[in-house]
Amino acid sequence: MRKASIAVAETPVIVAIDGPSGTGKSSTSKAVAARMGLDFLDTGAQYRAMTWWMLTNGIDVHEPAAVAAAAVKPSIVSGTDPLAPTIAVDGTDVAGPIRGPEVTAAVSAVSAVPEVRTRITELQRSIAAAARRGIVVEGRDIGTTVLPGADVKIFLTASPEARAARRSAELVGTDGGTADVSATREALARRDAADAGRKASPMARADDAVEVDTTELTLEEVIDHVVSLVEERRRRQP
Ligand code: DC
Repeated sequence: MRKASIAVAETPVIVAIDGPSGTGKSSTSKAVAARMGLDFLDTGAQYRAMTWWMLTNGIDVHEPAAVAAAAVKPSIVSGTDPLAPTIAVDGTDVAGPIRGPEVTAAVSAVSAVPEVRTRITELQRSIAAAARRGIVVEGRDIGTTVLPGADVKIFLTASPEARAARRSAELVGTDGGTADVSATREALARRDAADAGRKASPMARADDAVEVDTTELTLEEVIDHVVSLVEERRRRQP
C-alpha cells in the first residue's frame, strides 16, 4: 500500500534585490534563487528588451510620446529558471542584443516613460504571483514600487571604482574588448543619475531594505549573506 504523503505547503517567499549596476546584483540574485530553489527575474532585461524593440522598430527613444504610444506593442517573455534565464520579444531570443552598447545607451530614456513602467510593472507582478515556491526579483524599484510587500528587501551598493572595474570586466568581449574603466565609470554615473532622478518610480532604497555594501566582499560572501537573511525570514514566517 502506498503511503499517503502529506504535502506541507510552504508559503512562497518574495525577495527583492535592488541597486545600481556593478554591485553584483545579477550574479547574487541568480545564485540565491538557484541555491534556494526559487525562480529568478531580471527586470533590467525586460526594460532592455522593450528598448531593443523600440530601436529595432525605428521609434525615437528620446520622444517620450512615441515611446509611450508604442509601449503596449511588444510581447516580452521572461524565462525564470535561475540556471538558464531567458528573454524573448515577440518570440525572438534577444538575450545577446539587449546587452549591446546601443541598448545600454538608450535604456534609461525608455525606462523613464511612465507607460513603459506601468506595462512592465504589471508583467513583473504577474510573474511574481505565479512563482510557486517564491522568486528573487532584481531591479531598481522592486522593494519600493513593484513588490513593496516583499518578504526580504536588499539594496546592494559598492564604491564607484569597484562597480566600474566589475562592469568593465564583464564588458570585455561584448564591446570588442575595449572596455575602459574610467569611461565605464562615467557611463555608470550617468545611468545612475538618470535612473535615480526620473519622476516615475526612480531607483531607490526602500526604508525597510537591508543595505549591503559589496565593495570588500567576494561574490560568495554576498550570496551567503543574502541566503542567511532569507532563511532567517523564513524561520520567522507563521
Ligand atoms: O540592471 P540593468 O543594468 O540591466 O538595467 C538596465 C536599465 O533598466 C537601468 O539602467 C534602468 C532600467 N531599470 C529600471 O528602470 N527599473 C528596474 N526595475 C530595472 C531596470
